[in-house]
Amino acid sequence: MWQGPMRLGFLASHGGSNMRAIIAGCRDGRLGAESALIISNNRQSGALQWAAAESLPFAHISARTHADAAELDQAIADALGAAGVNLVVLAGYMKMLGPATLNRYHARILNIHPALLPKHGGRGMYGRRVHEAVLAAGERVTGVTVHLVDEHYDHGPILAQQEVPVAAGDDAESLAKRVLAVEHDFYWRTIERIRSGAIDLDAAMPVP
Ligand code: GRF
Repeated sequence: MWQGPMRLGFLASHGGSNMRAIIAGCRDGRLGAESALIISNNRQSGALQWAAAESLPFAHISARTHADAAELDQAIADALGAAGVNLVVLAGYMKMLGPATLNRYHARILNIHPALLPKHGGRGMYGRRVHEAVLAAGERVTGVTVHLVDEHYDHGPILAQQEVPVAAGDDAESLAKRVLAVEHDFYWRTIERIRSGAIDLDAAMPVP
């Protein structure tokens, strides 16, 4: 069982539809958590525009605001810490996190990937490319993976997966659409399982 309020910190580079689906769950009470901060590396992102329109706390932190990689990493860790974030949620975040953030939030950073990891993940496997790889491999089933984040792309311990069928005649676009719809339901449910204690993050990723 999660101790105290669950305060989510989102990192999103683009539209942030997963982030918005999770916050919708927070607002209507399906998920016992709240959005404490929304960070994007992309000042023009739909995620930040939406956060501003909704009067939710947000920050633009990127190589433009912090040219030095270590300072950028520290700025992200500090912003999350100052906002009282205790669970970090990557939602279409295209950048690697640095050691300051990874250490401060050990076993407290989630990512969602639109395939059944460890298949079809890793550097460069994002967006449409993931679904193209699934189709090229002739998979009949793909899915959604929520995992803990470590210093490698799409690599940390897997917390939960949901299968999604590949339909005859699918192209990358139709498959992406079906998978994304499942993501929107699966991400908040997985976070709720963390909150309830059904998923134990410390057991999944012990401190080395
Ligand atoms: C999702 O497909 C997610 O699996 C991947 O990036 C995409 C983000 O989409 N990590 P959105 O920004 O949440 O709409």
